[in-house]
Amino acid sequence: MHFHRLRLLKSVCICILSIVIINQICFLLWYLNDGSFWREKQIKEYFFTALNSEFEQISSKLEPFTIALPNFPDNEARDWFLNTTYYKRYSKQCPNDACQTNGFFYNDSKEHLNVHVALINNGVYFDDACGYNYNETALRRIFVSTNYVSVVYDQAIIYTVPDGWSFQHFLDGIGPKLCHSRIYLDKYPNAKVLILQGPRFDQSVKEIWALLGVNESNRIIHYHRSMKVGAHLLINPCRTPGIHPRLWQDARSMYWSLVDLSKSKSILSKPNLIYVQRTPANAKNRGRLILNEKLIIELLRIYASKHSLTYVQYDHSKHNDHIGKQVELFYNARIIFGVHGGALSNMNFAPSGTIIIELMPYRSDKSSLPIVCSTFDPHTFRPCSGYSYYMQSQLLNQSYWILPTVVDKNGNLNVNLTRLQRLFDSLV
Ligand SMILES: *[C@@H]1O[C@H](CO)[C@@H](O)[C@H](O)[C@H]1NC(C)=O
Ligand SMILES: *[C@@H]1O[C@H](CO)[C@@H](O)[C@H](O)[C@H]1NC(C)=O
Ligand SMILES: *[C@@H]1O[C@H](CO)[C@@H](O)[C@H](O)[C@H]1NC(C)=O
Ligand SMILES: *[C@@H]1O[C@H](CO)[C@@H](O)[C@H](O)[C@H]1NC(C)=O
Ligand SMILES: *[C@@H]1O[C@H](CO)[C@@H](O)[C@H](O)[C@H]1NC(C)=O
Ligand SMILES: *[C@@H]1O[C@H](CO)[C@@H](O)[C@H](O)[C@H]1NC(C)=O
Repeated sequence: MHFHRLRLLKSVCICILSIVIINQICFLLWYLNDGSFWREKQIKEYFFTALNSEFEQISSKLEPFTIALPNFPDNEARDWFLNTTYYKRYSKQCPNDACQTNGFFYNDSKEHLNVHVALINNGVYFDDACGYNYNETALRRIFVSTNYVSVVYDQAIIYTVPDGWSFQHFLDGIGPKLCHSRIYLDKYPNAKVLILQGPRFDQSVKEIWALLGVNESNRIIHYHRSMKVGAHLLINPCRTPGIHPRLWQDARSMYWSLVDLSKSKSILSKPNLIYVQRTPANAKNRGRLILNEKLIIELLRIYASKHSLTYVQYDHSKHNDHIGKQVELFYNARIIFGVHGGALSNMNFAPSGTIIIELMPYRSDKSSLPIVCSTFDPHTFRPCSGYSYYMQSQLLNQSYWILPTVVDKNGNLNVNLTRLQRLFDSLV
C-alpha cells in the first residue's frame, strides 16, 4: 500500500514536471520564432505593441506666439484677405476679436509649443507620419527580433517629413526639426539620416546636408514606405511644432553659420532688391507667369536705383552655384519680390526685417482658387498652401506685403502697376 502511494506520487510529479518542461519548450519555440510558431496572423500586432522600457525623451516648451496680419497696399487687398476662408477660420483665435491689432494667437501645447526628441533603444521606424501628432505607441515601438526589420543600424535619426528631398520642403519641414536636434548629428557622426525617398534629391539639399557633415553616400537613407528600419539607438525629433518663430529663426541662424555668415547686422545695411523670377522654363507647374513683366522690372530697377539698392533678378534654374552663394545672396536681401512659388523659400535665408512682397494669384470666378482656398465657403476649410509664405515670413520676423492679383484663364497675371507703385511708395 505504502509502496503504491509512493509510485502514484512519483508519476504525478513526473507528469507535472513534463507539463512544465513541454510548456517551457513550447514557449522557447514560440519565442525563437517571435510567435510565428502558432500566431502567424498576429505577428504584426505583436511587433507593433512591444514597448521599450528604455524610453527616453527630452522635452521643452516654447512660448505662445502671434502672427500679425499681412501689410496691405490698399483696401482692395485688405478686403480680399478678410474675405478668405483662411482669415475666417483663424480670426477665431485673435485675442479680443481684434486680429488687426493683435494678430492670430497660437497656443496649442501639442501643435505649437512642445518640442520633443525621443531616444529609443532598439527602436523601429515604420512609415509613421513625422510631425507633432506622431503616434505615441509607434514612438515606443521596438524590435524583439531582427527577423522583423528590414535592416538594423547602430544609430538612426528620423527626418521623414513629406517631400523632404526637395529644397522647399527641406526648409519648411526638416529645418525646424533639425535646428533642435542637430546636436545628435554631431554626437553620433555615423548615425544614418532617414529622409523620404523621392523622384529626385535636390542638389541644394544635398549640399546643406554635406555642410552639416552628412555625406549622402554613407549617411543618407532614402526611406521607402515598406521599410521597417531598426536602430540600436533611434533618435526621433519628429514631435515638434511645424511652426514656431523660435524654431524657424534658429534654423535660419544654423544655415548662416554653416556658410560662415554671422548673426545679421542691421537690415538697413542689406543691399539687395531681389526679384524671384518665375519663367516657363524654371517652374514645375504651369501658370503664374507675369505677362507685363517688362514694366514690372522697370519699376523695380527704378526703385532700386532711387534707394541705392542692388537689383538682382533671381532665376533659380540659372543660379546653380553652391548653396553657400544662395544663402549669402538672400542673407543680403533688403526686399524680396515675386509671385507665389517655391523659389520664395529662399526667404528662409533672409534676415528679420526683410520686406517680402508676394503677388498672390487668384481666380475671380471660381470657388476653387489656384493656390488659395475657397473665398466663398468658410465652412469647408481645406489646408491653404497659398498662405505658406505669408506664414513663413512672419515666423522669420520679416515684413510681409500681399498683393492679390487676379489670373487669366491660363493662370497667368497682369500686375496692376498703379497698385504696385503704391505698394512700393508705402515702404519706408
Ligand atoms: C468681402 O466680399 C464682399 C463681396 O464681394 C464685399 O462686399 C466686402 O467688402 C468684402 N470684404 C469684407 C471685409 O467682407
Ligand atoms: C494658453 O493655453 C493654456 C492652456 O493650454 C492656458 O492655460 C493659457 O492661459 C493660454 N494662454 C493665453 C495667453 O491665453
Ligand atoms: C497609434 O497606433 C496604434 C497601433 O497602431 C493604434 O492602435 C492607435 O489607435 C494609434 N493611436 C492614435 C492616437 O492614432
Ligand atoms: C562621402 O563618402 C564617400 C564614401 O564613403 C567618400 O568616397 C566621399 O569622399 C565622401 N565625401 C565627402 C565630401 O566626405
Ligand atoms: C524682429 O525684427 C525687428 C526688426 O525688424 C527687431 O527689432 C526685433 O528685435 C526682431 N525680433 C526678434 C524676436 O528677433
Ligand atoms: C489698377 O488699380 C487702380 C487702383 O486700384 C484702378 O483704379 C485701375 O482701374 C486698375 N487698373 C487696371 C488696368 O485694372
